[in-house]
Amino acid sequence: MSDRAAPDCMPRHVAIIMDGNGRWATQRGLPRSAGHRQGVEALRRTVRAAADMGISVLTLYSFSTENWARPQAEVRFLLELLRRFIRTDVADLHKSNVRIMIIGDRDGLELSLRTMFEEAEALTRHNTALKLVIAFNYGSRQEITRAVQAIARQVADGTLAAADITPAVIGAHLDTAGLPDPDLLIRTGGEQRISNYLLWQCAYTEFVFQPEYWPEFDAHSLARAIETFRMRDRRFGGLKAQTA
Ligand code: FPP
Repeated sequence: MSDRAAPDCMPRHVAIIMDGNGRWATQRGLPRSAGHRQGVEALRRTVRAAADMGISVLTLYSFSTENWARPQAEVRFLLELLRRFIRTDVADLHKSNVRIMIIGDRDGLELSLRTMFEEAEALTRHNTALKLVIAFNYGSRQEITRAVQAIARQVADGTLAAADITPAVIGAHLDTAGLPDPDLLIRTGGEQRISNYLLWQCAYTEFVFQPEYWPEFDAHSLARAIETFRMRDRRFGGLKAQTA
């Protein structure tokens, strides 16, 4: 079975860059933290909507390797929001049969945070509805670099021949190993760039850029992006499918 959604189908894997929290808040004369707080509400709405629509995988960019460069207070606030989200939402997500996975570099993260990630993943490991993938301390170039290092170690110790390194071998060493590639990538907030997100995995992904700020995102926004996706002509480098 192909792991890619054909044109006209629902996307199996939707990835989102949740952008615009800060601008949403500034526009309302609020601190940026208020935008992030509302961003968590949008995240909850989106997870529910994705599960209701029967999407298999939802990958959310919650904190990039570059986000550490933000003011310390904002970084602390974002980390605290994530901790709070895991503490308060994991039990309900588990009841809803949602499997939680976290991608990104865990080296150097506080032990307590790593433990929270491991516990959330272990608790929900056998769930079969939506896979909710949270990209935290995630950067695609760093992920690819880690994969190359792991592969190079196998070549160095003689367990893998250089000639046997294929795209499938590289994919199997990425944090997203075992997941289908995203069919649809949505970025909110009006910017049109990929910002070091899933660079390898998005080789044939359809991109939809929506102007609304992330705190405004809801089930209708998701449905709109999927509608746009369904109108796209996906050829994967081949020719348009013949119709009778
Ligand atoms: C981008 O908005 C958003 C982020 C860097 C963080 C996304 C975080 C959340 C939605 C909430 C926390 C996440 C979890 C998993 C609980 P921005 O701050 O770059 O907005 P701007 O471009 O308007 O400044």
